[in-house]
Amino acid sequence: MENFENKVVLITGGGTGIGKATASAFIAKGATVVITGRRQSVLEETSQELGPQVYPIVGDVSKKGGPARIVEETISKFGRLDVLVNNAGTGKMGPLSETSDEDIESIYRTNVFALLALVREATVHLANSKGAVVNISSVAAQGMMPAVAAYASSKAAVEHATRLLAAELGPMGIRVNAVAPGLTNTDIAADVKSNEEMLGMIIAQTPMGRLGEPKDIANVVLLMSGSGAGWITGQSVQAGGGFLL
Ligand SMILES: NC(=O)c1ccc[n+]([C@@H]2O[C@H](COP(=O)([O-])OP(=O)(O)OC[C@H]3O[C@@H](n4cnc5c(N)ncnc54)[C@H](OP(=O)(O)O)[C@@H]3O)[C@@H](O)[C@H]2O)c1
Repeated sequence: MENFENKVVLITGGGTGIGKATASAFIAKGATVVITGRRQSVLEETSQELGPQVYPIVGDVSKKGGPARIVEETISKFGRLDVLVNNAGTGKMGPLSETSDEDIESIYRTNVFALLALVREATVHLANSKGAVVNISSVAAQGMMPAVAAYASSKAAVEHATRLLAAELGPMGIRVNAVAPGLTNTDIAADVKSNEEMLGMIIAQTPMGRLGEPKDIANVVLLMSGSGAGWITGQSVQAGGGFLL
């Protein structure tokens, strides 16, 4: 896979799970990686583990002004931005009747509002580098699943925003794609993993017969970020071992 030496990659939610595996994969290819998240201790631990090519920025992407500050700090520290991975996300399992206004707002602020604001703030820098955006969606955006209406609909918004932004930013040389993971072995999937019946059902519907690992998704994010995907934009690539085929 191609080299990312001298490239700067910003990964929201880069301290854990898919974001951390993606940071690690970019570092292995020579990139400098900025990771963000709300928990300072998590970011510090991940930075120590991944080494000096990682730069942590503590911040909440769902708060007004958060995305602008994160992009500004990235540029003032490194002077460029080549890849933006909109990975920070949140969700809640449960029927809509048990989903509060606060839950819905938090899901949409984190998964959709923040993504749009981050892309807006990053556009001028990505235009300079002819860079790429990779949005982390979910297979939940593409099929029927029980008890995830707020989360799944927010990820459907991510997928449509991916197409619209690809059209808007393509003339500036910026590609915008999404990666849609199936169930992956991270903290956000804890509720599903601990529900044996649901876990069994999902694995039974996955031709590859297992849960995804963060590295499985990281590999696809790298593919979509590099010049090998230079003629691909506005697409969502499922990375779920064939779930929902
Ligand atoms: N695991 C799966 O089965 C699965 C399947 C489909 C899609 N996805 C998507 O994959 C992405 C990564 O999730 P994951 O599976 O790796 O789970 P995860 O380990 O829980 O990662 C979520 C990350 O987002 C960060 N985050 C959440 N809210 C934030 C906010 N307001 N501001 C800044 N950072 C925030 C979290 O850090 P802090 O809490 O420290 O802020 C955390 O590092 C998410 O978009 C998720 O929806 C996951």
